[in-house]
Amino acid sequence: MAEEEEEAGVNHVVLLPGPLQGNVNSMMKLAQLLALHHFHVTFLTTDFIHRRLHRFADIQALSQTYPNLELKTISDGLPDDHPRSDNALADLYSFLNSHAKPLIRDILVSQTAAKPKVTCLIGDGFLGGLTADVADEVGIPLIHFRAISASCFWALFCAPNLFESNQLPIRGEEDMDRVITTLPGMENILRCRDLPSFYRGTESNLVEPLKSTVFDCHQTLRARGVILNTFEDLDGPLLSQMRLKFPRVFAVGPLHAHLNSERVFDAKPTPSMSSFWEVDRSCLTWLDSQPLKSVLYVSFGSITTITRERLMEFWYGLVNSKKRFLWVIRPDMVAGEDNNDRVPAELEEGTKERGFIVGWAPQEEVLEHKAIGGFLTHSGWNSTLESVVAGVPMICWPYFADQQINSRFVSEVWKVGLDMKDVCDRDVVEKMVNDLMVHRREEFLNSAKAMAKLAHKSVSPGGSSYSSLLDLIQYIKSTSR
Ligand code: UDX
Repeated sequence: MAEEEEEAGVNHVVLLPGPLQGNVNSMMKLAQLLALHHFHVTFLTTDFIHRRLHRFADIQALSQTYPNLELKTISDGLPDDHPRSDNALADLYSFLNSHAKPLIRDILVSQTAAKPKVTCLIGDGFLGGLTADVADEVGIPLIHFRAISASCFWALFCAPNLFESNQLPIRGEEDMDRVITTLPGMENILRCRDLPSFYRGTESNLVEPLKSTVFDCHQTLRARGVILNTFEDLDGPLLSQMRLKFPRVFAVGPLHAHLNSERVFDAKPTPSMSSFWEVDRSCLTWLDSQPLKSVLYVSFGSITTITRERLMEFWYGLVNSKKRFLWVIRPDMVAGEDNNDRVPAELEEGTKERGFIVGWAPQEEVLEHKAIGGFLTHSGWNSTLESVVAGVPMICWPYFADQQINSRFVSEVWKVGLDMKDVCDRDVVEKMVNDLMVHRREEFLNSAKAMAKLAHKSVSPGGSSYSSLLDLIQYIKSTSR
C-alpha cells in the first residue's frame, strides 16, 4: 500500500446509494474499503437517511476509523413524516429522478483546498439514469453499483430477449411453473415464479413497472463499468455472460466479508456504521446460553411488511416446530399495527420457552454466532450473502424484487436451503424448519460450510474478489490521470 499512500488525497470518489437499508449497508462497506485504500470518499445520502444514521449508527466510530470518509446529504423532497417504505419507494424514486440532479451536480463540482476534485462517481444503479445524466453533465467517470443480486440484474437486463423469444409475459397463475429455457447463463433454472417480482401481474398492469425497471437496468450501459456484490464461485456463469455486454464487471463481494478481511485493526465487534434502527444487542446474550446450532434466526429485512394473518402462520409454525428461534419483528413490519410482537395467548408458553423477539438485531454478528443453525429469511441480497458467509443454511420466504430469484438460487443452484416461495402456511413452516434443522441438517450444514469457505477464499489475498477490488482501484486511478 506504500504506493497508494503516496497517492493519498489525489483520488476523490463520491458514492451515491439508493435510500434503502440494503443499498446503504452494502455501499457503506464499499466506501470503507476504498477509504482503507487511501481514497478520499464522500458518502452522499438523503437528509432523512442521514438523520437515521446519526440516530442509530455509530457515526463517531466511522469518522474516527475512517478520517478520509465524509458523509454528505441532499434532500429527498418528501415530508418528514412520510413512511418512505414499500409503496412510498415509488414517490422517493420519482422525486430523486426529477429534482436531485442539480443537488448532486453541486456536490460533484465543489472543491476546496482540503478536498481534492471528484474523480469518479459510484452511483447506485437503483437510481436509474439519474447518475449517468449527472456524470455526463459534469464530465466525471461513472461506475454503477448494484445492490441486488447478479441473477436479478441479469434477468431484468435480458427482458427484451425473453419477450422476443416468447418466453414472456407470464400468462397467469397456471403458467407460474413453466420453465424459462433461454436466459443466458441460467438456462432451465428458473420457473416463471422465480423471476424477479416485477415480471408478475396481468399483462395489462405488467407493462409499466417492468418496462421502467428494465429501462433502468439498461442505463448501466452508460457507465464505465458495474460493481456487483458477489464472487466468481457463486455467480461465475452469469458474470461470464455479463462480461459479453458490459466493458467492466467488478465482482468484489461479499463486501462485508471483504471489509472484515482487510480491516487490520482490533478484534472488537464491528460497531454498526449504517443501521437505520436501534440495534438490540440483548439477543447476543440470549444466544450465548443456547446450545450449538440449535437456534433458527428469523428476519424479513428492512422493508417487508406482512399482514397479521401471515404473522400468525409464521408464529404457529415456529412454535409448533419445537425449535428455538430468534425473531426480528420490526416496529413497522405488520401492516396497520404498532404492537406487533404481542404474544397470542396460546403461543405464549412456547414463545417464552424457546423464542426471543427483538425489533432489530445485529444481524451479521447473529449469523456468525455458534448457536445459530438456520435462517428463515426474505432472501434480500445482503441477508443471503451474510448467511452464505456465515455458513448458515436458509429457508427462503421471498417477498419482492430480487428475492424470488435469490431464493431459487439458494435451493436449486447452491443447494444451501429450502424455498418456501408463494406459500404462507403454519404446517409448511413447521415442516421446513424441521427439515432444515433436523432431518436434512447434515446435508445443508455441509453444503453451506463449503460455500462459506469459497466466499472467504474469494476475499483473501489472491482470491477473485480481492483481485477484482484491486482492478477497480487501479481503474479509478487510471481515469483520473
Ligand atoms: C433491499 C431489497 O429488499 C433486497 O431485495 C435487495 O436485495 C437489497 O435491498 P432489504 O429488504 O432490506 O434490502 O434486505 P437485505 O438486502 O437483506 O438487507 C437488510 C440488511 O439489514 C442486511 O444487511 C442485514 O444485516 C440488516 N439487518 C436486518 C440488520 O442489521 N438487523 C436486522 O434485524 C435485520
